[in-house]
Amino acid sequence: MIILFANQKGGVGKSTLSVLFSNYLSLAKNKPVKVYDMDFQRSLYNKAQAAEVIDNEPLYPVEAAELSQFTSIQKKASNQVSIIDLAGKMDDDELVPVFRKSDLILCPFSYDEYSVSSTIEFSFVILKINPKAKIIFIPNRVRSSVKYETMKSVQAALKNFGVVTNSITERIDFQRITTYDIPANIIEVIEPVFESIYNEYIDPAWHKTNT
Ligand SMILES: Nc1ncnc2c1ncn2[C@@H]1O[C@H](COP(=O)(O)OP(=O)(O)OP(=O)(O)O)[C@@H](O)[C@H]1O
Ligand SMILES: [Mg+2]
Repeated sequence: MIILFANQKGGVGKSTLSVLFSNYLSLAKNKPVKVYDMDFQRSLYNKAQAAEVIDNEPLYPVEAAELSQFTSIQKKASNQVSIIDLAGKMDDDELVPVFRKSDLILCPFSYDEYSVSSTIEFSFVILKINPKAKIIFIPNRVRSSVKYETMKSVQAALKNFGVVTNSITERIDFQRITTYDIPANIIEVIEPVFESIYNEYIDPAWHKTNT
């Protein structure tokens, strides 16, 4: 199956959560994962390369890939979970098949005003391209000290386009994540969110195609 991390808004945590989710699927769920970095900045790919330099056994392969490779990636995807980290831009026609044919679109966002309007705009475009797209919104970098006045109305708005998960909090240790493990203090932040996505969408789809 193919899972995208996507949002036209930059810096919302697409690459960070791609890595953590891939680590989680391979370490906690023992799933064969393959990661495709389709962002021309290659931040995820470079992180994986850096991990190899210091001699850590990779949990999964990480490939730098172009949008044009999507169809061939899709053909290989049936017996693995393919995670695709996309760039924060939407002006490429080659994104159309990507949004049409992926199984799940995980969309991190933050509760600030610009992130929300950008996320809604993004979702609108996705559903125009693929009315059946399954979008899962992940509130990220949520600060426990801040009272978000608009949280309820934002959730209500996003529910017109997909599902909203529990929040992932702002944590300084997210700046140091790697492709080869998940420290215990980070597990506790991501597990409730990832576990529900896994149980509801990934495990059932996996059984359907692999039994
Ligand atoms: N929950 C979090 N707590 C603290 N920092 C976070 C959290 N999530 C992401 N970050 C930080 O936010 C920054 C942006 O994250 P990231 O690069 O994953 O976003 P992105 O959506 O992939 O950005 P781009 O659109 O540029 O690809 C990074 O410095 C990352 O470490
Ligand atoms: Mg990124």
